[in-house]
Amino acid sequence: MKVFSTQDELKSFLQRFSTNKSVGFVPTMGALHAGHLSLIRASKADTDLTVCSIFVNPTQFNESADFENYPITIDADIELLESVSCDVLYLPNSPEDVYKNEVPFSIETGVLSEVMEGKNRLGHFDGVMRVVKLLLEIVEPDKAYFGLKDFQQYAIIKNMVDKLGMKVDVVGCPIIREESGLAMSSRNALLSNTDKKKALIIYQTLKELQNSVEVGEVSDLINKGLEQLKQYTEPEYLTIAESDTLQPVSRLEQEKKYRAFIVARIGGVRLIDNIEIFV
Ligand code: PAF
Repeated sequence: MKVFSTQDELKSFLQRFSTNKSVGFVPTMGALHAGHLSLIRASKADTDLTVCSIFVNPTQFNESADFENYPITIDADIELLESVSCDVLYLPNSPEDVYKNEVPFSIETGVLSEVMEGKNRLGHFDGVMRVVKLLLEIVEPDKAYFGLKDFQQYAIIKNMVDKLGMKVDVVGCPIIREESGLAMSSRNALLSNTDKKKALIIYQTLKELQNSVEVGEVSDLINKGLEQLKQYTEPEYLTIAESDTLQPVSRLEQEKKYRAFIVARIGGVRLIDNIEIFV
């Protein structure tokens, strides 16, 4: 795997490579796990060259403690990337290297960024859009891969790419779970073994919702789910929203697509998960 620490070196490599070849891109913040590797594998299956980036983007953290405690495991990450034959890693030597050519922009995100993570982590999606736009401009991939664990992030990036007319296919990849059901996340590394067991309530609650929803009112089910989460976690929200608009709903209608979203803290670690809801 080729490793580049500056965007100029990466760009000149990609310019030499990419005539008539397709490029797939997997942006990450490191602390890689099986979820990230599934994105690399998807990119390798679809494209000629797979580029991964590892950059803990300071502008998307709304809590300085979260940024400071974010796990950094570069040596292990490189080994994992090599184990799945990732072709190129962009490991910027500083935030300035990523941000140096930034041109401010603004786009209409509407309700997509006003609910859930947008409401609870003010400025988070502005930081995500800033960095993803810059990384897409640096790598110029044909396809970029994002995990659906961060479904709202995926929707916001897709919207940004559409609104800016960027020529990249934004691909959402299935959530990868541990055998227990816990969604793979870099933040799981911060959980004690006991807290990891407590965290299973998140997926259990999502599955129960998925199995029990019907057309009509869902407020009681949501409240029941929140009470269940409170036994082991500090829930921030449990929301059922339309999959396309992310508009939260309290009544489900036939033939519409929905997802249930949970954010809960355990031992100070903020965990996020979601599931498709069928009615
Ligand atoms: O999902 C992430 O890891 C980050 O939000 C991303 C997309 C790499 C941007 O920093």
